[in-house]
Amino acid sequence: MRVDEAVASRLRQKHVVLGVTGSIAAYKAVGLASALVQAGATVDVIMTEAATRMVQPLSFQAITHRPVHVDLFAPLAETEIGHVTLGQQADLLLVAPATANTLAKLALGLADNLLTTTALAARCPIVVAPAMETAMWHHAATQDHLATLRQRGVIVVEPEAGYLASGKSGAGRLADERRILATVARLFTPQDLAGRHIVVTAGGTREAIDPVRFISNASSGRMGYAVAEAAAQRGARVTLISTVRHLPAPFWVDVEPVESARQMRDAVLAAIPQADALLMAAAVADYRPADVAPQKRKKGSDEWVLRLVPNPDILEEVKATKPPGLVVVGWAAETHDLIENARSKLRRKDLDLIVANPVPQTFGSDRVQATLLFRDGTIVPLEPLSKVALANRILDIVAERLRHRR
Ligand code: CTP
Repeated sequence: MRVDEAVASRLRQKHVVLGVTGSIAAYKAVGLASALVQAGATVDVIMTEAATRMVQPLSFQAITHRPVHVDLFAPLAETEIGHVTLGQQADLLLVAPATANTLAKLALGLADNLLTTTALAARCPIVVAPAMETAMWHHAATQDHLATLRQRGVIVVEPEAGYLASGKSGAGRLADERRILATVARLFTPQDLAGRHIVVTAGGTREAIDPVRFISNASSGRMGYAVAEAAAQRGARVTLISTVRHLPAPFWVDVEPVESARQMRDAVLAAIPQADALLMAAAVADYRPADVAPQKRKKGSDEWVLRLVPNPDILEEVKATKPPGLVVVGWAAETHDLIENARSKLRRKDLDLIVANPVPQTFGSDRVQATLLFRDGTIVPLEPLSKVALANRILDIVAERLRHRR
């Protein structure tokens, strides 16, 4: 799996102890270990004895390039990187998969193997990703143990409902690897947008011609998704108003699907009264077909002339109605006169900040050479950045504005 940059940037140089217990999902921990290593983390794996029945320690050793720890009483473990040191040096203890048995031991503070002993000695955050049969998951004992662990600050990545080893379907399947990694990454991210509500728009709007055709543009939506994901990672409550169907929804983000500019306008105007910031990364179509044919237009030999009428300008409508203190960021994608055009949009739309991008380089590409223009006239050209890095730069400015807002 290719590790998401938003995740990798938070895991670089972190020391993760990955505890693997004897669930059938133990084989998935091999992929998880690989993803953590790819993200630049140092990974020490501790397996319970039961886990070694499911997966060979050698698999983890080959991936992490480090010895795998199993035996509490192994001389090497005690002298060099024993349970106390491992747990105290690590930035995180991640137990995935966590069986009902291990969860119970962690809740009770039992220390009968290297993993539970390490957990008891650990001073770092602990994340557990349970995996078990549905009945075990729903059992009052398991739920009570989880409540105890949560109360002590342990983060639980809930299992999903789905196909289980027993052949049945139900709750208890190890959470998706992406969700586990996103949870870990968020733990290493300063929560400077906690308590804030951020509204983001993404994608090119689709303006219907008939039931099967529409006018749109080349926007991939990746900029808006990067902003939404980064804002959620930094603790914000995020509403993502999106025309995009091909990108997975970022975790902890409420996605509101829309198609046309007018639907996007309605969704934005409904969302901003409770919001702290609006980031309009969407490429909104300026025109739409004057008439939408109720049926598919059939082919003919005549020319087809489409009449277009102007769409509402969402940012101009926001300007007229925005709540005081709302931080508003716009984007300007330009083929020519980048700075001039961006500056005039900043003024016309009364923005705090506009992100000026040259096209066609920007659309669909992962790196952007953006210039930031501020309300006070400051212009900051940025080095070429990935969309994730650019999203975080923009959010640094938004967070700063919100901190100084009266
Ligand atoms: N925008 C908007 N409503 C529109 C068009 C654009 O809110 N109908 C927003 C975009 O989301 C972006 C900013 O305004 O944040 C600038 O969009 P852009 O398409 O570059 O500018 P336009 O105002 O459409 O001007 P032009 O097409 O002449 O470049």
